Amino acid sequence: VGYLYRSRLTDKALEKISNFISSIKEDERIFEEDIDGTEAHDIMLYEQGLITRQELGKILSSLEKLRLEKRKGSVKLDSKYEDIHEFIENYVITDVGLEVGGKLHTGRSRNDQVVLDVRMNLRSDLLDIFGLLIAFIETLLKRGEEHKESPMMFYTHTQQAQIGSLSHYFIAYADGRLRDFKRLRDCYDRVNLSPLGAGPIGGTSITINRKRTASLLGFNGVLENSIDAVSSRDFILEAVSALAVLMSGLSRLTEDLILWSSAEFRYIEIDDKYASVSSIMPHKKNPNVLELIRGKTGKVYGNLISVLSIIKGLPTGYSSDLQETKPPLWDSIDLVKNSLEVLIDLIDTFKVNTERMAEIISDSYAFAVDLAEILSQNVDLSFREAHMVVGNIVREMISLGKKPSDLQAETIEKVAEKILGKKINVDNSLIRDVTDVKRILSKRQTIGGPSSKEVERMLQNRKELLRECNKELYVRKKYLDQAKIRLAETVKKYSSSRSTR
Ligand code: ARG
Repeated sequence: VGYLYRSRLTDKALEKISNFISSIKEDERIFEEDIDGTEAHDIMLYEQGLITRQELGKILSSLEKLRLEKRKGSVKLDSKYEDIHEFIENYVITDVGLEVGGKLHTGRSRNDQVVLDVRMNLRSDLLDIFGLLIAFIETLLKRGEEHKESPMMFYTHTQQAQIGSLSHYFIAYADGRLRDFKRLRDCYDRVNLSPLGAGPIGGTSITINRKRTASLLGFNGVLENSIDAVSSRDFILEAVSALAVLMSGLSRLTEDLILWSSAEFRYIEIDDKYASVSSIMPHKKNPNVLELIRGKTGKVYGNLISVLSIIKGLPTGYSSDLQETKPPLWDSIDLVKNSLEVLIDLIDTFKVNTERMAEIISDSYAFAVDLAEILSQNVDLSFREAHMVVGNIVREMISLGKKPSDLQAETIEKVAEKILGKKINVDNSLIRDVTDVKRILSKRQTIGGPSSKEVERMLQNRKELLRECNKELYVRKKYLDQAKIRLAETVKKYSSSRSTR
């Protein structure tokens, strides 16, 4: 026992080697998927007339018993088993005997079995991530609603660039996550095909019914070509890539929030429960959660490189190297879930210091672009001329220690004359237009810009898109839940307690 498959070999595996080979520890994650897959396979074997109803009953009762023991926490997974597949088959054989239990794996290989389990597990993880992404986007939009009227500085090269609103910023990050959602949803639909029945690589002579197991397990169809079904792991590459892209978005967001939490910015204050302290500097409030999300992003990138590298040189067909693709996939999933979970509440609870944001704006020359644009449209200056004039004015005002509010129409006229030799007439109302934040924003009305009208439109539109995401999640979840219920009912119908032992 424990060496179910080793009849071809003379020597027992050395403990050191078993430990090295075994994937049983990480396979704990697919424990129930392996039971579900085996149940579906054996129900199909019965329906195809390949095992008797009584045999099926014994196998199913044994599998259900194991499921309960596992849930109670009384199952110990030991590295003497190569993997969860051997462990579970061995359990049933020990439980109901080799004659009946020995039929459980008829017409199946671990090669189609493992990738089935990974796909099923990934399906439910992706659904969890869809839910988290939706909650995340909702939070961003909610904070966006709150800050429609909160002007803030936008930066390029980490230098003050243009004035906008905090709402506009939140929508930007919601948009990125909407794309993450779509990428992962597309990935889901490719994951959701059943490889079961492909056999080791070239199918099986046993008259199995692949469509039936696919349907019992809630798949959207069969992954047809048996070679492709057991060899390909592009669904893992795709999932980890999309997760890496998702994390890159979170990481950039956290970088902003870290900067904004500094004493120099003071734009936001994160809630104490997301901060940490210093062992020596009593004044510190460190944004550890945010830094760790930024750091963990690197780990997901590393996982992507791992899976890409593991797969690239493999000959077609299953090779044990593929076993090594599971931990990086699962690690990436967990990192993404944990990061989204903590970020949702962190974003929901940070305080925004709108006065500080306004203060930075009022001391800034970031209206210079608005001024240059207004001049190019209202007086006889090309944009480049206006750009030159305004650039000169800003340089001079800074060197004279003047404040942006000291700007006067006259200055513009003088500088234009001096550097361009042009006489222009600048109305004081133009100055008012660019030194009043509301007016500045109301002028930038292009699609996707920061005018309050456009921001409002984007907010409403994103809420609508979010409703569509919810629907997409709902239909997929419902499809799986219904399949689960159907499988459980079928298992119940066929497993008679009478027939066990
Ligand atoms: N433990 C293996 C894995 O995780 C399962 C498939 C093993 N197949 C085989 N032919 N050794 O990938």
